[in-house]
Amino acid sequence: ATNRTFTMIKPDAVEKGHIGGILSMITEAGFRIVALKLTQLTVADAEAFYAVHKERPFYGELVSFMSRGPIVAAILEKDNAVEDFRTLIGATNPSDAAEGTIRKKYATSVGENAVHGSDSDENAAIEGAFHFAGREQF
Ligand code: CMP
Repeated sequence: ATNRTFTMIKPDAVEKGHIGGILSMITEAGFRIVALKLTQLTVADAEAFYAVHKERPFYGELVSFMSRGPIVAAILEKDNAVEDFRTLIGATNPSDAAEGTIRKKYATSVGENAVHGSDSDENAAIEGAFHFAGREQF
């Protein structure tokens, strides 16, 4: 069924000028962009967005990384969007990411891994609503 996922192009990839390259890979793979903006997470935003990882040893590093500069937030629509987008982005650690994936091409490390993709339909809806008002979603 056609459904939606949420993505962010993370600060590392924005800093390196990869917004265009990553959006091209996304649209070439058949995803339709239904919401899009350049924005920046505050420390409090990043803490809230990643609250599920609060007990992890990398939480502090993750929050400071994700709030250090602009990100691109987007909602994407496609048949089987959540699963197919996670396939397109590749493994969390770029050294495990398959050839042809966004992280293989653009990620630096397990922390600075260029893109986010929602892990379930439920989280896609929560994360999309965190960033976009209803009138910003098409
Ligand atoms: P993502 O899967 O989008 O969301 C959780 C993020 O935590 C993950 O991307 C990485 O950016 C980060 N992360 C996961 N594991 C580690 C780790 N071992 N060290 C640092 N950051 C990590």
